[in-house]
Amino acid sequence: MIFVTGGAGYIGSHICVELLNAGYDVTVFDNFSNSSPEALVRVQQITGRNLQVIRGDCRDRDALITALQQSQTNAVIHFAGLKAVGESVSKPLNYYDHNVVGTLRLLEAMQVCHIRTIVFSSSATVYGDPVHLPITEDHPLSPTNPYGRSKWMIEEILRDVYRSDPSIRICILRYFNPVGAHDSGLIGEDPQGIPNNLVPFIAQVAVGRRERLNIWGNDYPTPDRTGVRDYIHVVDLAIGHLQALAVLKNIDHERNDQSFGCMTVNLGTGQGHSVLDVIHAYEKACGHSIPYQMAPRRSGDIAVCYADPQFAYKILGWKAQLSLEAMCRDSWRWQSRNPNGYQK
Ligand code: NAD
Ligand code: UFG
Repeated sequence: MIFVTGGAGYIGSHICVELLNAGYDVTVFDNFSNSSPEALVRVQQITGRNLQVIRGDCRDRDALITALQQSQTNAVIHFAGLKAVGESVSKPLNYYDHNVVGTLRLLEAMQVCHIRTIVFSSSATVYGDPVHLPITEDHPLSPTNPYGRSKWMIEEILRDVYRSDPSIRICILRYFNPVGAHDSGLIGEDPQGIPNNLVPFIAQVAVGRRERLNIWGNDYPTPDRTGVRDYIHVVDLAIGHLQALAVLKNIDHERNDQSFGCMTVNLGTGQGHSVLDVIHAYEKACGHSIPYQMAPRRSGDIAVCYADPQFAYKILGWKAQLSLEAMCRDSWRWQSRNPNGYQK
């Protein structure tokens, strides 16, 4: 049984599909603060399998202990947390509470229940402004906002937990820019309020919910002067988690295979795309133009960021397969069939 915190969210719902399709049993633990139970109904529709859903908050250790015991969990994938960079600057305590305290409570509950395997959602944001590209896992860590620092703190906690007990199996996955949706068009990203991120914003412009996109900055030192990122299809990302679970399961502690006991791995494609590249790919996917205007840089943004994905291939045998065209096509299928997200 795999216990998925935050499993109703954007990335979590996609991992649930891949887990169920691979034959795992799944329990989702989510407080639905940024998601809809409908996402999990659709996950079951896509896979033809049931999953267990428990409404609860990761800061509630007793609720976690009960849920872990009830579900007879073998491993945890921990997505639950808050993720809006701007909001983390105005509400830092809330971010440290949900993200850091939530993870502490989860680790304590896992200890009580003797569960020793965890995959954690970290972010490329822990690297801060890149000092070299592509970004390898040993790049210095220098997050520039409370959200990023909460991820960095959790990573440090996990590394300390591992040092205290090397028989624990931990995989820290640093995501680059997850976009796209499942190709059924039934699940996808459904941001509340005004989207912060590029692809959900473009999707809402494409479907007519918003008038035009602001391109934050056209004076970056990049080929077309707009920001460059490593966009990765959410289904590729989900498959990376399955690979991580498989590798953690096969670690042989008898052989003292300690280098694998706490892995930190980038999940990206290794390819950078500019804002204009994404707009043009989306226009092709939706069949009409996306109105946009140039606007000043967004505070805190960096010019270029893309992963070195070689370690992921070496250690997990995983490589992203899906192109920017597939990301936009699948995002558009989801958005056009569900113009208001999960809201009927
Ligand atoms: P999301 O907001 O869609 O999903 C998070 C889920 O966690 C939601 O269902 C929410 O209701 C739940 N949740 C939040 N706080 C909770 C709590 N205290 N207890 C229980 N449930 C709680 O976000 P996502 O895009 O699916 O991201 C999943 C994880 O991946 C997050 O940890 C995020 O920081 C990380 N991540 C996301 C991105 C991205 O661009 N989407 C990039 C890097 C890392
Ligand atoms: N952008 C626009 N207009 C918009 C939104 C974004 O021009 O309306 C631009 C940004 O300036 C940037 C690019 O599109 O150049 C991507 O921006 P996103 O907000 O989609 O993504 P970021 O790289 O800024 O940040 C995302 C997540 C962070 C995470 C980081 C690395 O929001 O939480 O990826 O994983 F930390």
